[in-house]
Amino acid sequence: MPKLKGEQLEKICFQLLCAAGAPEDHGRIVAEHLAGNNLAGHDSHGFIRIIQYIRQIKEGVILPAAKPEIVRETPVIAQVDGHYGFGQVVAKFSAELVIDKAKKQGLGCVAMRRLRHLGRLGAWVELAAKAGCAAILFTATGGQALLCAPFGGSKRRLGTNPIAMAFPGENEGMVVSDFATSAAAEGKIRVYKARGHKLPDGWILDKEGRPSNNPNDFYDGGAILPVGGSVGHKGYCLAFMTELFGSLLSRDGFPPRPGDKQMSNSSLFLALDIERFGPLAAVKSEVSMMANYAKETPPADGFDQVLFPGEKEAKSRRERSKTGVEIEDETWNQVMALVKEYRIGEKLGQLP
Ligand SMILES: NC(=O)c1ccc[n+]([C@@H]2O[C@H](COP(=O)([O-])OP(=O)(O)OC[C@H]3O[C@@H](n4cnc5c(N)ncnc54)[C@H](O)[C@@H]3O)[C@@H](O)[C@H]2O)c1
Repeated sequence: MPKLKGEQLEKICFQLLCAAGAPEDHGRIVAEHLAGNNLAGHDSHGFIRIIQYIRQIKEGVILPAAKPEIVRETPVIAQVDGHYGFGQVVAKFSAELVIDKAKKQGLGCVAMRRLRHLGRLGAWVELAAKAGCAAILFTATGGQALLCAPFGGSKRRLGTNPIAMAFPGENEGMVVSDFATSAAAEGKIRVYKARGHKLPDGWILDKEGRPSNNPNDFYDGGAILPVGGSVGHKGYCLAFMTELFGSLLSRDGFPPRPGDKQMSNSSLFLALDIERFGPLAAVKSEVSMMANYAKETPPADGFDQVLFPGEKEAKSRRERSKTGVEIEDETWNQVMALVKEYRIGEKLGQLP
């Protein structure tokens, strides 16, 4: 498997996106986001996605030059129409808008509709935490991305509907919780498939509704289970409510939209300016105290240590920015075929 630096991954993505028709500013936002996700340890939302995004540009699913537009606004809320542009461009625009509203009014709330895959939610709430806000992002993944069975069901009815939350901590640190309300994000199953690995127990059902460890069974009409295993009703309820917060308030349509051929990452982004509630420095220090307090818990059998939310990604960033990121051969070969197709090899220089 070739190993690449974050800057190399970003450069390949940027050149491919521009060659496929993205304006440079949009290409830069998406490429930086994808490489950043690999560095954060989320390969499922990193370089592997460039293959999907280029295909979707070709199919006219992603409109690479579409710009987000504010269609409804008060000092506190806004509704943003992404016009089916890159989800990352819409999410960055909305993050900047929600932070601005929170700084001016104490609270900001932005609903986003008609946007394609916005990637790793954590990246967007991290922007709010860096600006001294506490933030929550609900993202529905309806339409074609109805991949999950409700608790007790055997067929796809819900998206993987992730929720991300962040709080700033001391020394530029932060606490970030960011995960799908399904047992796994679809991208994770894609990585297991690309690497030829078996799935952990409890992730999927096959098309007959039987538990399976074979990633191909999911792509053959199976369904992802809600997070929580035997108490999966909790993951299911969170997924259901995320569908409502994300799809209904953005007016992206009846949440499941079963007939839709494509996905819109309808979302609701909330940011609170911490300084309005008390001194930011004191809250940051208490966030870090809470993280340390949890970390100091003696580990249970089978565990080395307790982590706080977001610690894994911060550690991965420190390590991978030094060591680089391994890209599985299947992904690398597909990306290199695109590099050849768009004749951008010369712009990329020496590659592994
Ligand atoms: N755009 C979309 O439509 C979409 C859909 C689903 C998921 N996603 C993204 O996929 C990514 C992966 O999702 P996932 O559900 O596989 O997440 P995951 O299972 O990898 O969990 C990640 C979260 O759990 C925390 N975590 C991990 N191990 C921990 C530990 N031992 N102790 C404490 N905290 C720990 C991490 O810090 C992070 O907040 C997320 O970034 C999510 O935003 C996007």
